[in-house]
Formats: sequence, structure tokens, C-alpha cells
Amino acid sequence: MDDTARPYRSVLYIPGSRERALEKAKSLPADAIIFDLEDAVATEEKGNARALLARTLAAGGYGRRAQIVRLNGQDSEWGTDDLAAIMEIGPQAVLLPKVESPAQVEAVAAALDAHPACTGTRIWAMMETPRGILNALAIATAPRMAGFIIGTNDLAKELNCRFRPDRLPLQAALQTCLLAARAAGIPCIDGVYNAFRDDDGLRAECEQGRDLGMDGKTLIHPAQLAIANEVFAPSAEEVDLARRQIAAFEEAEAKGLGVAVVDGKIVENLHIVTAMATLARAQAVGDQG
Ligand code: COA
Ligand code: MG
Repeated sequence: MDDTARPYRSVLYIPGSRERALEKAKSLPADAIIFDLEDAVATEEKGNARALLARTLAAGGYGRRAQIVRLNGQDSEWGTDDLAAIMEIGPQAVLLPKVESPAQVEAVAAALDAHPACTGTRIWAMMETPRGILNALAIATAPRMAGFIIGTNDLAKELNCRFRPDRLPLQAALQTCLLAARAAGIPCIDGVYNAFRDDDGLRAECEQGRDLGMDGKTLIHPAQLAIANEVFAPSAEEVDLARRQIAAFEEAEAKGLGVAVVDGKIVENLHIVTAMATLARAQAVGDQG
């Protein structure tokens, strides 16, 4: 699938050590999966998880779901072995934790460049430290970069801020990442909602992320998928409005006018760009099935 058209409404973390969850994910409606070797895997499980994940991904069965492997940090005792094992299977993408500078991305990109199975492998960055956030644009434009994943739990820990429903203490970081991702033309995926049985809280946080401009939300449990898929897809009303805006603008243009009016609001060329993007997202969501 053309990566620019891919939806990332729901991006599900799965601990790389949980065989049953790895199997279950093959039938879950997630747009993307993060196969985790980092924080969701206990120290004593690191080696087993790495081998299990390499086997599982080589066997396939994940269909259209984007597959992203989160490695342990390259400065940790597992990072180099993770990268070496995962490169063997030519992964779609690797996700680097706690990225703080473009040099960390460049080093992994150089290793991928040197591996014949990894010509198409992209790199995602976890944005979850103050230094990383402050270097967001340089990271977003580093080689092979495919997107940002915001790590709100680590970020809150580093900032020493409180968890609040409105996420006020995180707004500067969330928006800095979004600015950098948009400047670089890559997707930006919001952090997880920890209370995975609280549907109302999840919905509210998904809506906040969507309104900010996030492409989707990272999730920790299958029960969170439906809400993220719904909130981050264009609604029927948005699709209808986009179609009417395009039709009205074409009609105005045919009369030699540069502005149309729909539902009492002006529609100019730039609104048509947004309307087309809405239709493209609706199409991408439909293609995902
Ligand atoms: N991905 C895929 N399947 C998952 C899953 C996940 N993240 N979390 C749970 N499941 C599966 C379980 O395997 C179980 O499947 P089964 O019915 O076939 O046995 C089913 O969903 C129901 O699971 P449940 O019993 O409700 O949850 P749990 O108690 O087994 O696990 C968590 C709860 C939070 C520990 C677990 O969801 C998890 O580990 N999430 C990921 C955490 C993570 O990756 N964190 C790092 C990033 S923040
Ligand atoms: Mg983290």
C-alpha cells in the first residue's frame, strides 16, 4: 500500500513475548501494530521475545496492518542484538525508543543501508523526552523517518507533571511534535490512554488528539480499537460536507469565481485541499477494511 495513503487511526502495542496476543492480532481491526521488545517485555524475557518476534513476523499473516517493531534503545544491553535479529527478516519499520537527536536515527539508518534485506525499512521515533521534543524537527527530517509516536507516559515522568484529563501539561510537547511532523510530512500518533477499561475517557482523549491534528492513537488493549477507529476516521457528515464543498467550488470556478459559499461559510482553494484530503482519508479507511 502507498504509505502516504495509509491510515494510522489505531496503533496497537503488543508485547513481543506474548504469543497468544501476537496470534490474536492477526484478526484485530488495528491499522498498525507495534511489536514491542522494549518496556512491555521483562528483562528476563528479552532474548525469548526477540526470537519469537523474528519467527512470527517472518511467518506473516498480518495482512494490511502496518508492522512496526519497537527495539530496545541502541545504548541498552539488548539494542544491537534486537536490531541485528530484526534486520534479518527485512521489517517494514523499526521504532526507536527515547530518540533525542537525529544522530540516533542516522546510526540505525546506516545499519539498515548496509543490510540487503532492509532497503525498504522505515524508521519511527518515540518522542518522549524533553531533549527529543526540543529536537523534533531535526529528528523528523532524519533519514528513513516514517513517523512520530508520542510516549506520553515517559514524557509525564520526565516533566514531573500531573496526569490531567485535559492534558494541559503535555500540550506544548504534543503540539511541538505535530508541528515538526507536519513540516516533514510524516504522521504523528498520540500517546496511550492507560485506563483501558474507561471508554468515555479514551474517547475524550482520542477526540482531543484528533482535534489537535494527530493521525491516530497508540493503544494497549484490543478493547480500545473500535473507539480510536471511529474517532480518527472522517465522519459521514465530514465526507458529505467535503463533497458539497468540492461541487460548489467547481460550480463557482465554472462561472469564473474563486470563492463559493456552503452552509453559510466561504469555500476557497485551500478549503478544497482539506476537502480532498478528507475524501482521501475516507478512501484509505475504506480500503483498510
Ligand atoms: N494486543 C493483542 N492482544 C491483546 C493485547 C494486546 N495489546 N492485550 C490483551 N490482548 C488479548 C489477550 O491475549 C486476550 O486474548 P485471548 O482472549 O485470546 O486470551 C484478550 O486480548 C483479552 O485480554 P485481557 O485478559 O482483557 O487482558 P490481559 O489482562 O491479558 O492484559 C494488559 C492486559 C494491559 C497487560 C495487556 O493488554 C498488555 O500487555 N497490553 C500492552 C501493554 C504494552 O504493550 N505496553 C507498552 C506500551 S505503553
Ligand atoms: Mg517509553
